[in-house]
Amino acid sequence: MQQLSSVEKAWTDALFTGAGFYREQWPAQHFTTAPLVGPDVALAVAALARGCGLDTVIDVGAGGGELVGVLHRLDPALRLVAVELRGRPAGLPRQVSWRRRLPDRMEGLVIGHEFLDTVPCPVVELDPDAVPREVLVDPASGSERLGAVPRTADLRWLERWWPAVRGETDGHPAGLPGQRAEVGRTRDDAWADIVARLDHGLAVAVDYGHLRGTRPPAGSLRGYAHGRRVPVAYDGSVDITADVALDAVADRVGGTVHRQRDLLAADGPAGDRASPADRLRELTEESRRAEVRAAGGLGELGWVLTARGVVAPGPA
Ligand SMILES: C[S@@+](CC[C@H](N)C(=O)[O-])C[C@H]1O[C@@H](n2cnc3c(N)ncnc32)[C@H](O)[C@@H]1O
Repeated sequence: MQQLSSVEKAWTDALFTGAGFYREQWPAQHFTTAPLVGPDVALAVAALARGCGLDTVIDVGAGGGELVGVLHRLDPALRLVAVELRGRPAGLPRQVSWRRRLPDRMEGLVIGHEFLDTVPCPVVELDPDAVPREVLVDPASGSERLGAVPRTADLRWLERWWPAVRGETDGHPAGLPGQRAEVGRTRDDAWADIVARLDHGLAVAVDYGHLRGTRPPAGSLRGYAHGRRVPVAYDGSVDITADVALDAVADRVGGTVHRQRDLLAADGPAGDRASPADRLRELTEESRRAEVRAAGGLGELGWVLTARGVVAPGPA
């Protein structure tokens, strides 16, 4: 018999409870994020922190500790704190603190790198009459059905941030039946909770996402496993994710949105590299640097910067 629940609940269970994906798996086994490509993100984070006069970096959703590990090598004087549901990975420098829960109060640069896209949210679809209805799913089979009209807070969020899927009330043009949206209210709440703990410093949310003019008409709920995009499954074997409404997150916390390829410094390491080994190293670095700046790829990641008592720098 089908056990229907909201996508938000099935998604939460699949990632975070029992044998959930993030209880059992290391992210790096399944997908490559920019900190795994090379030191560019760490270089930018260290420059942002030092540029704001900050000596602490708190990495929320630190995965396998890759970013804090590189930060420690680049700038050993930085105080580094990783916040992660998983236990401390072997081999992390002992100077890096590892904790499961966010500190109540924070000072420094707090970063969530591909953290918000793992925050589950309700999924809404326009029914044949273009009325928004919450999508329900049977986690065992993945089969879906449309449920009730979403709660008021979600309708309000859609109205402001994803009006095509709000339906035809209040003068908004209706979207087409079948159009979908992920209600980003839960991501806004999650990031607002983190920023509210920051007494002094810079909050940096880095994620793939969209802005009001570029929402994907069918939504973006999808799965990843073993380096490949796969169908969404709710059994804990797959990372379930959806792009982040970056402008909504920024608006909620008074932040600004920047594109990664604009924010990362353009210049590469200088030096006279004559030997074939040096030339090979240079080519490898060039390709790595291009990868994190690529148009249509990692370069499109959005950085939401929110300053508390510091001046947030603009693009390099
Ligand atoms: C997509 S991975 C990103 C890992 C890493 N930041 C990177 O970019 O490579 C998201 C990580 O956030 C962690 N996470 C999710 N919710 C969390 C929470 N509430 N507190 C701490 N960590 C969390 C997951 O366990 C997972 O390691």
